Amino acid sequence: MRMTGQEWVSIGTLHDIPQRGARCVRNGDMTIAVFRTADDRVFAMEDKCPHRAGPLSQGIVHDGCVTCPLHNWIISLETGRAQGADEGGTATFAVRLEGQRILLALPCGSAAAVAESCDHG
Ligand code: FES
Repeated sequence: MRMTGQEWVSIGTLHDIPQRGARCVRNGDMTIAVFRTADDRVFAMEDKCPHRAGPLSQGIVHDGCVTCPLHNWIISLETGRAQGADEGGTATFAVRLEGQRILLALPCGSAAAVAESCDHG
């Protein structure tokens, strides 16, 4: 399935990601963290905190947000924006479930780069 300038790339199944955890997908030089919430929603954003580039994939997922493991900024999984008094944002990516399969929207042509992934648990 295609969207304008983007294509949906299968990156595994829901079971590959622990609840309230994340899985990382490499896309060129960028690492994208794909999060699973306690109620099995999925979100994707660059694995880089807007504060000092902390690995958001290693943060705690709660209430539609992830808390950065470094200095506890809270980032909205939906918008990538820092919450509360903190300012800044991280790039988000469209992601959806097709049954148990997770599809991530990436710019056309970058799909081949998604070969390597890492699990932070
Ligand atoms: S790097 Fe994420 S809160 Fe500082």
